[in-house]
Amino acid sequence: MFAIVLVGGFGTRLRPLTEHVPKQMLPICGVPMIEWVVGHLADHGVEKVGLAMGYRPDAFLEAYPNEHIATTPYQVAVESEPLGTAGAIRFAVEQFQLTETFLVLNGDVLTDLDVRALVEFHRDVQAEATIALQPVDDPSSFGVVTTDNRGRVEAFIEKPEKGSAPSNNINAGTYVLEPSAVEQIPQGRPVSVERETFPELAAKGTLYALPSATYWLDTGTPRQFIQANLDMLNGKRKQLPDLPDAEIDPKSLITQSVIGNGSEVEAGAVIDKSVLLDGCRIGANSEILGSVLSEDVYVGQGARLDGCVIGQGQRIQPGEVLMNESRPEAGSA
Ligand code: GTP
Repeated sequence: MFAIVLVGGFGTRLRPLTEHVPKQMLPICGVPMIEWVVGHLADHGVEKVGLAMGYRPDAFLEAYPNEHIATTPYQVAVESEPLGTAGAIRFAVEQFQLTETFLVLNGDVLTDLDVRALVEFHRDVQAEATIALQPVDDPSSFGVVTTDNRGRVEAFIEKPEKGSAPSNNINAGTYVLEPSAVEQIPQGRPVSVERETFPELAAKGTLYALPSATYWLDTGTPRQFIQANLDMLNGKRKQLPDLPDAEIDPKSLITQSVIGNGSEVEAGAVIDKSVLLDGCRIGANSEILGSVLSEDVYVGQGARLDGCVIGQGQRIQPGEVLMNESRPEAGSA
C-alpha cells in the first residue's frame, strides 16, 4: 500500500527549532522523526511513501538523496504554496497518480497504531474514508469524533470548547482514503481535511472511524517534543533507539534527557527532562531543566535554563538565568 505523509507545515509552535528545518526532520533520540514514522509504516506493509511537502523540502532531499528513507522508497510532491491538509492530499494524489486505496498520515504524530487493522476495517465497512481515533483526557485541542455502533461517523467537531466535547475520541491523524474521497476537495485554495472534507463525508455517511488505545503522541509543541524523546528513551514505544554519542563528564548529573551527537557536558552540570540536539556545549555547574536546545548551543558555566527553547548556535552567557524563555537562532532577528 502507498502512504502519503503530510510534512509541509511550518511548525510554528516548535519555533525556533523549526526555523531552519521542518518538524519531521527534528531528531527523536538522535533519529529524524520522519524515519520513525516511515519505519512504522514499513513494519505494517507500506511499500512506498509520498511526502507532501511545502516548507523546506530541501531538508528532506538533502538527508535522503537516494530516493529512500531507511529502506523505504519515497516520492515527493512539493506545493508551491501551502494548500492546507486536504489541498495537500489532493495535490499529492494527482502527482503520484493514485487510483487505489491509500493511507494518509500527519507526519508529526508518533504512534504504534495497527495500520493493517485500520485498513481491514475500512474495507469491511466499505468506507470512502476511515479515521483512526485515539482516546485522550482532554480532547479540546483536537478534532473530536462520535460514531454509531458500526463505526460510522456521526459528528466531527474540530477543537470543541473545553468540557463540551461529546466524546474523548479524537482524530489521531492516520486515515485510509479512497480516491473518490479526494475528488470532492476543491482546487485553487487551501482546504483543511479536518474542517471541511471530513464533516462533508460525515454528512454523506461514508466516513468511518476506528478507536484504538495504543501509543500516540502529537509532537507539535516543545513540551510534546521532549515527551516524544523521553517516551522513546523509556521504552514506551515498540521501536527502540540507539542513543546518540556525547561526551559527558562523570561528575555531571543527567536524568530523563537525550544529549545529541558530539555534545559535551562538563563537570557539575545538571540536566533533567531536556533534549539537546547535536553539538551543544554545556558548561560546568550549569542547570538545564525541561528545556530543548537546538544544534550547537553553548551554555556558559553556572547558567540556568528552566522551560526554555533555544535556537541553533545561541550562546547563553555564564551565570545567565532564563525561565520559560525562547531564544531565536543565532544571527536571526
Ligand atoms: P503549527 O504551525 O505549529 O501548527 O504546525 P504545522 O504547520 O505542522 O501544522 P499542523 O500541526 O496542524 O499540521 C499537521 C500535519 O500536516 C503536519 O505533519 C504538517 O507538516 C502537515 N501540514 C500542515 N499544513 C500543510 C500544508 O499546507 N501542506 C502540507 N503538505 N502539509 C501540511
